[in-house]
Amino acid sequence: MQRLDGYTAIVTGASGAIGQAVVERLLQEGASAVLVTDLPQTNIVEIAAGWDAHTHAVASDLSDPAGARELMRACNEYIGSPDILVNVAGAWQIIDYVDSDENQWMSMIRANLLTAMSACHAVLPGMLERHSGSIVNFASTAGEYGSIRPSAAYAGAKGGVIAFTKSLAREVSPEGVRVNAISPGPIDTPALKAASPEQRAIAAARTLVGRLGRPEDIAAGVAYLASEDSAFVTGTVLQVNGGSLL
Ligand SMILES: NC(=O)c1ccc[n+]([C@@H]2O[C@H](COP(=O)([O-])OP(=O)(O)OC[C@H]3O[C@@H](n4cnc5c(N)ncnc54)[C@H](O)[C@@H]3O)[C@@H](O)[C@H]2O)c1
Repeated sequence: MQRLDGYTAIVTGASGAIGQAVVERLLQEGASAVLVTDLPQTNIVEIAAGWDAHTHAVASDLSDPAGARELMRACNEYIGSPDILVNVAGAWQIIDYVDSDENQWMSMIRANLLTAMSACHAVLPGMLERHSGSIVNFASTAGEYGSIRPSAAYAGAKGGVIAFTKSLAREVSPEGVRVNAISPGPIDTPALKAASPEQRAIAAARTLVGRLGRPEDIAAGVAYLASEDSAFVTGTVLQVNGGSLL
């Protein structure tokens, strides 16, 4: 018996490195159907074709209410009300705040906060009706402690994800729906691969375990929060950062 035997899930931001690791982990844990979604300009449909028959891909922009409606339409068609929602979708931009403009702030808020809000809003009626469900939102160490590299708008949006997660847990956990966030530290993804060897070494040295995180490290935390192993855990922020910030 696997931890997620027969569970259904939605994973947003599923074409990114962490999103892919999350989908693969949920399938390994026994999920029976996973609806994967990402922006239309990504190759989410091709990526999903490489997974097993238990996945179905939807291309939609979740910062747009029409995109969230499209996700729910596909959800109703393919999996019904999901047991699990994992909001991996996000975006990061390094820029000095004084040099940034409102379009850049809005793009951080849309990608990181609005995507999570609209996906939660879409799935909650079904979860509340069944008095069951687990939602995992994606925060960041930047949202907890402030960003080390200049990305204040990103940090503000991720801080918003944390406040949203805790507030939503207060609202819906008495009705049986758990809401948590995972807060990754420096993870070896394309964003960090673009950094210089020195910057990567500094990020790795900041952790207590002496290495960058892997997408699989984050997926393991998501599997815990998604499953009944965390039945007594809600409104929390699980730090998966190698001890880089305590
Ligand atoms: N990589 C890290 O070191 C790190 C550290 C802390 C937090 N995080 C968070 O983890 C998550 C995944 O990170 P990643 O490195 O895999 O990033 P990524 O950019 O590879 O993946 C994020 C995905 O979200 C999608 N997305 C963005 N806006 C969207 C929208 N409006 N609608 C639908 N999808 C949208 C993107 O297309 C992308 O595929 C993000 O939320 C990120 O902020 C990552």
